[in-house]
Amino acid sequence: MSGAVSSENPEGLAFPREFVIGSATASYQIEGAADEGGRTPSIWDTFSRTPGRTWNGDTGDVACDHYHRLESDLDLMASLGLEAYRFSLSWSRLLPGAGDRPNPAGVDFYSRLVDGLLARGIRPIATLYHWDLPQELEDAGGWTNRDTALRFADYAGHAVDALGDRVHTWTTLNEPWCSAYLGYGSGAHAPGRTDGAAALAAVHHLNLAHGLAVPEIRRRATNTPDVSATLNFHVIRGGDAEATRRIDALANRAFTSPMLLGRYDDDLIADTAAVTDWSFVRDGDLALVHQPIDVLGVNYYSTVTVAMWDGASERSRNDGHKDVGGTPWPGSEHVEFLPQAGPYTDMGWNIAPDGLEELLVSLGEQFPGQPLMITENGAAFADVVTPTPDGPRVHDVERVDYLRRHFAAARRAMDRGVDLRGYLVWSLLDNFEWGYGYSKRFGIVRVDYDTRERLVKDSGRWLAGLLASRA
Ligand code: NOJ
Repeated sequence: MSGAVSSENPEGLAFPREFVIGSATASYQIEGAADEGGRTPSIWDTFSRTPGRTWNGDTGDVACDHYHRLESDLDLMASLGLEAYRFSLSWSRLLPGAGDRPNPAGVDFYSRLVDGLLARGIRPIATLYHWDLPQELEDAGGWTNRDTALRFADYAGHAVDALGDRVHTWTTLNEPWCSAYLGYGSGAHAPGRTDGAAALAAVHHLNLAHGLAVPEIRRRATNTPDVSATLNFHVIRGGDAEATRRIDALANRAFTSPMLLGRYDDDLIADTAAVTDWSFVRDGDLALVHQPIDVLGVNYYSTVTVAMWDGASERSRNDGHKDVGGTPWPGSEHVEFLPQAGPYTDMGWNIAPDGLEELLVSLGEQFPGQPLMITENGAAFADVVTPTPDGPRVHDVERVDYLRRHFAAARRAMDRGVDLRGYLVWSLLDNFEWGYGYSKRFGIVRVDYDTRERLVKDSGRWLAGLLASRA
């Protein structure tokens, strides 16, 4: 596509000038070029190339071919009027083999990306870890090994040396809940392990990685960047109090308490006592993990309702994204996830914009003075391409409606005093949706997986209209 995308001004969604609106992606989900430019395999290459792990055996080998389409994708972002673009760096593209010598082709790629964003007036928001751990580190134990946290801080330093004069916001981790519990607990994500004790060790080593990287980023950046972490919160509504407390402890407070308060909560330790003694937490670790961050990234899609399960009756649903034999909830296997009222997205996730408002208000109350940013919100729907006199179109009315209502919910949270700094829509492009492969489309821009052509959906036009109304 070419030229500026125009659209009517979406109704009354007024945000302050400094509030930043944009879109987000992640390296393994869009780049492709898996074996090019010196890149070596990550755990997602290994996992997705293992039969039975992903839908249809899909891999990120080619994905959206973003690696080869950088310039046109940058033009696409500019045509939408994005104010910010959140992307992630592939650790094994920047430091092949998890070594300590930056790969010139990797540095060049991300440098061109950042320069291209800045040239178009788009704020670069870089995530260091969006799940694609170098395979070499997994072979040495992955996130169950404390050394991975130290290696992550080194990697962060190299990334900042390469780009730390230009990146506006650095995010250490994306959704460590998924890395730990889906990667090592349920096995639905790479590396596909099903060991509750390993999952909890991973929780701590991810927290430690964050804590070690934050000062390293600040020390080596030359432009005083914002530093952040992005968490996916479980917004738990209804259900019973004990189950709610347990899931809140494992899913939410296992990350917010160490990162923002410098502690692991007693109930988390007690709930998981049969699984681990937490001896992987060493003296001084919590002080390292507890680092001031400039912004807390919030990823929100839907809500959950939980209840205690008696272990005998048929279970409603085990929230592991995919039944691979494990549970993502070490120590709380006797919690069940109850069906949510619809409507649902194509992921089967319930659509609940008020859950976003509730989450933002609650975070504002729990962590006063901590600025927040929505680093992901969006929806998968089974889009259809419709021929029109103006060419092919995707009339994704449900996604437009989803976004409109979630933007309105964010606005309401701000009206209630929440310090919300921005909103990034997931995702710029249809892409590799992890275990679901290419079967789920989250993009505001459609990707034709035969030709890799991009087609701005009505939701992309809607966002462009919102952005144009602010210009
Ligand atoms: C969260 C993850 O960060 C992203 O990679 C994923 O595609 C979306 N949610 C949708 O599931």
